[in-house]
Amino acid sequence: MESEYKLLSGAMVTLALATATLVVIPYVQLSDVPPSDGLKPYTAAQLRGRQHYIENGCVYCHSQQPRSQSQAPDFQRGWGRAPVAGDYYYDSPHLLGTSRTGPDLLNIGARQPSEDWQLGHLYQPRAYVPDSIMPSYPYMFDIKDQAEPGDKVVNLPPGFAPLDKVVVAKPEALDLTQYLLSLNRTYPIKAVPNERHPPASQEPSGNQGGNEQAPAAK
Ligand code: HEC
Repeated sequence: MESEYKLLSGAMVTLALATATLVVIPYVQLSDVPPSDGLKPYTAAQLRGRQHYIENGCVYCHSQQPRSQSQAPDFQRGWGRAPVAGDYYYDSPHLLGTSRTGPDLLNIGARQPSEDWQLGHLYQPRAYVPDSIMPSYPYMFDIKDQAEPGDKVVNLPPGFAPLDKVVVAKPEALDLTQYLLSLNRTYPIKAVPNERHPPASQEPSGNQGGNEQAPAAK
């Protein structure tokens, strides 16, 4: 019986230590992190767009966490500096993502600030990137004979709009685009304690140690 008690208390101690290290300490460390200077709260439209981003599974193919230059050439790809905790102040739940079938999107609003491009790319990614494997999202758009007052007509490259019709963005496409355009953490940040490297924006070149296959940034 004694050895069972030993086993049980050993298991409890291990579990308590793991919970403290992985849950309690990070929670305490991050609970009073203020928002980064330069970070704006999401508007109502951007928050609705964020919800569409989750519902449509964008997070399964796109990360929102460019890595530091000591880890990967994300900065050279044009994806931006490594983020700090305060950059995610208004993100709940966070959408860091784990997979990168497509490019990192934490700074897509700075990289591609055109609403027309974002809408057209959601309607048909291959209109802009011929070999794109990103799915198109046609159900976020209406096909009409002609535009009505207040409609946002999507300006597609020649040959991609249905013949003699117009493609009109539905509210979900407009909101999602507002969210994408709001993704911009390119403002400068204060030096991060314990960071061995200067902020990415000041570093002329980083190492090329990354080895994941990711599409080149445009
Ligand atoms: C099956 C994986 C996949 C899914 C799901 C997906 N994407 Fe993509 N996405 C890609 C790939 C691959 C690219 C690169 C080729 C291109 O630009 O089309 C890309 C590119 C992009 C770009 C342009 C990035 C740049 O740097 O130019 C944006 C913006 C984007 N996706 C947004 C979205 C949104 C919003 C959703 C959800 C509605 C979504 N993606 C869902 C794979 C995906």
